[in-house]
Amino acid sequence: MRARIVVLVSGAGTNLHALIEAAHTSYDIVGVVADRAGIGGLRRAEAADIPGVVIDPGSYPDRSSWDRALAIAIAGFDPSWVICAGFMRIIGAPALEAFPLRIVNTHPALLPAFPGAHGVRDALDYGAKVTGCTVHLVDEGVDTGPVLAQRAVEIHEGDDEASVHERIKVVERELLVDIVTRLCALGCTVDGRKVTIP
Ligand code: GRF
Repeated sequence: MRARIVVLVSGAGTNLHALIEAAHTSYDIVGVVADRAGIGGLRRAEAADIPGVVIDPGSYPDRSSWDRALAIAIAGFDPSWVICAGFMRIIGAPALEAFPLRIVNTHPALLPAFPGAHGVRDALDYGAKVTGCTVHLVDEGVDTGPVLAQRAVEIHEGDDEASVHERIKVVERELLVDIVTRLCALGCTVDGRKVTIP
């Protein structure tokens, strides 16, 4: 039986697109949740006949009501895995408690280096020669959860944020699809910070 996954997006949704293209292997994408309307990720969901829901923080009186609404929206799709694919929000306690060790994030840097919203820019500004991407389980911190997989990407002379990010995203999409496919087929065991997909 294929796993049910929900994908959370905030932007263009190219990672979502890669997941859509590989769907029906070990998973089905049963819903997409966005934090704002009108984004590419929602258009990609619609084109693939996947139901999309917008949970915009601007529509909620405070952070905790948005956190609860997000958890309810995700749970409404009854997923076994939740994939943050360019979702630029911190997942609050209600969703973390509803899906313990079942939420995956992709980050455009080699964690624990350069966490946060500007991982690509921060690596460039630091003068790093190698950066990359990390797929990890989500915990209560910002990009601090146990690492599932990483890939390195070189930074070249003359690179800017956009050129490095584009090069990362090519590798990131492939890695994310590989990890989600394997997780959905095989699950994983978590021992402290060490994660193993059997
Ligand atoms: C990805 O690089 C993700 O890691 C970062 O934002 C990008 C999202 O790209 N947080 P897309 O929306 O999947 O095209």
